[in-house]
Amino acid sequence: DWNMPDYVNEAIAKVRAQVGDEEVILGLSGGVDSSVVAALLHRAIGEQLTCVFVDNGLLRLNEAEQVMETFSRNLGVKVIHVDATEQFMGHLKGVSDPEAKRKIIGREFVEVFQAEAKKLPNAKWLAQGTIYPDVIESAGSKTGKAHTIKSHHNVGGLPDTLNLKLLEPLRELFKDEVRELGIALGLPHDMVYRHPFPGPGLGVRILGEVKKEFADLLRRADAIFIDELRAADWYDKTSQAFAVFLPVKSVGVMGDGRTYEYVVALRAVQTQDFMTAHWAELPHSLLGKVSNRIINEVRGINRVVYDISGKPPATIEWE
Ligand code: XMP
Repeated sequence: DWNMPDYVNEAIAKVRAQVGDEEVILGLSGGVDSSVVAALLHRAIGEQLTCVFVDNGLLRLNEAEQVMETFSRNLGVKVIHVDATEQFMGHLKGVSDPEAKRKIIGREFVEVFQAEAKKLPNAKWLAQGTIYPDVIESAGSKTGKAHTIKSHHNVGGLPDTLNLKLLEPLRELFKDEVRELGIALGLPHDMVYRHPFPGPGLGVRILGEVKKEFADLLRRADAIFIDELRAADWYDKTSQAFAVFLPVKSVGVMGDGRTYEYVVALRAVQTQDFMTAHWAELPHSLLGKVSNRIINEVRGINRVVYDISGKPPATIEWE
């Protein structure tokens, strides 16, 4: 480790001192924070770390494969991949209220994670990707300062019924420091500089009832949008960008036939703190290209619209 910055070695030494020879479980989401924790802990304690990656069926295109590729195959991290798609979809069936959907997704995550944790009776620690701004924010909510507009679920939101000690190695770091640490630990640039993705995933980007068919359409539309943003060098100029599935049908025309298909909305914002945000003034040519590709390549979508709402009064996500 001769070429690594001192702070990486310090972080590793701190984890080793804290954990000793005990075992650790980590809920790996593929987001920046849990990814950096996984890489750090793997470097520090190797085989004493077991990650649990829950696929809730609401992840982006090829996301599960990418997480397994990066951590399991490339880095050699022990990762348990749980495909819980059926379980999540089953519980979401018939539910269209946004808050109810969030609660179900959060609850099922805890359920699945706990079931996996019970299979690892030697684990003494639960690692979480809590970063300094999270610490501040939850301190605020305890004193009633922050008020909740939407209930947020992270992989961090686990109850203490597991009887595990908490390990939060990023607790003192700001986001940009977490990213630097991730790069120093050898994580891929695209993973470390990825836009944030909400805990409930596509569950809050499919308006109303979540169906697998809708999630499949949305995944493909979203991947095209992100692809084109990257190709046009706009990905890093936006803070968050994604597609939203609208379960309404409109009439279109294709060849000599009439179509009657669903709508996708594109959302791209620029923000410092995600508390307020401006819609991104993407070039019309880029929007046009994305729209053409989605309509031509994703059968089932025949109309694409662009969201030009600021936050406030709109929010970044649609639910
Ligand atoms: P809104 O839609 O409230 O989103 O303007 C602000 C930021 O928070 C993200 N977000 C979430 N992140 N769990 C998360 O981990 C959640 O339940 C959740 N809801 C919204 C959103 O993607 C945006 O970055």
